[in-house]
Amino acid sequence: MNAVTPDLFESPVEFQGTVPIEPGAVLLRGFAGPHATTLHADLMRVVAEAPLRHLVTPGGFRMSVAMSNCGALGWVSDRRGYRYDAIDPDSGRPWPPLPASFMQLATQAAAAAGFEGFAPDACLINRYEPGTRLSLHQDRDERDLRQPIVSVSLGIPAVFLFGGAKRADTTQRIPLGHGDVVAWGGPARLHHHGVLPLKDAWHPFMGACRINLTFRKAR
Ligand code: SIN
Ligand code: FE2
Repeated sequence: MNAVTPDLFESPVEFQGTVPIEPGAVLLRGFAGPHATTLHADLMRVVAEAPLRHLVTPGGFRMSVAMSNCGALGWVSDRRGYRYDAIDPDSGRPWPPLPASFMQLATQAAAAAGFEGFAPDACLINRYEPGTRLSLHQDRDERDLRQPIVSVSLGIPAVFLFGGAKRADTTQRIPLGHGDVVAWGGPARLHHHGVLPLKDAWHPFMGACRINLTFRKAR
């Protein structure tokens, strides 16, 4: 039997409740757990069409986190800068559509976090391998900053850093596991965040990696 069996990663995780991080930011422990089987199947279809790849920063550095997108718009970075684009630069075609399972999870998680009526048009898919990290940054390429961010963690654990409006503000360290969702908006919308280097680990969802789905309303 294949070790990566969807049933193995679904049953143990369920929603364990809401943990406030700061005004405008909450952690929903295990919220995505019950959706994992469907998310996994839809994710496989998306990355078959728009493979994960290492983008280059405007400064010329190759990002250690591999990325792809689905939805009407995808977040891309290259020597010209960061932006949302309807076209996958690797294929020249539109990004795969946002699967219904992704949309439903994002809307439900946002509502559970107090953001009613969230309808994302962009989902950034991040794949972290052990040793990779994401440095502190703000999500500020979206047009309407009244719209929240919904960030879903799947697979091996990571430590999420959540800071303040200024890069130098102190950060909270929030351990995130499979199925955890963080949502932020309102007074926390432009707060800095990042991910510490991942430790070696293995999880039935995707082996030795962590998948993060970041949902945004870009336009
Ligand atoms: C991001 O900020 O784009 C991703 C955060 C995460 O991987 O948890
Ligand atoms: Fe971000």
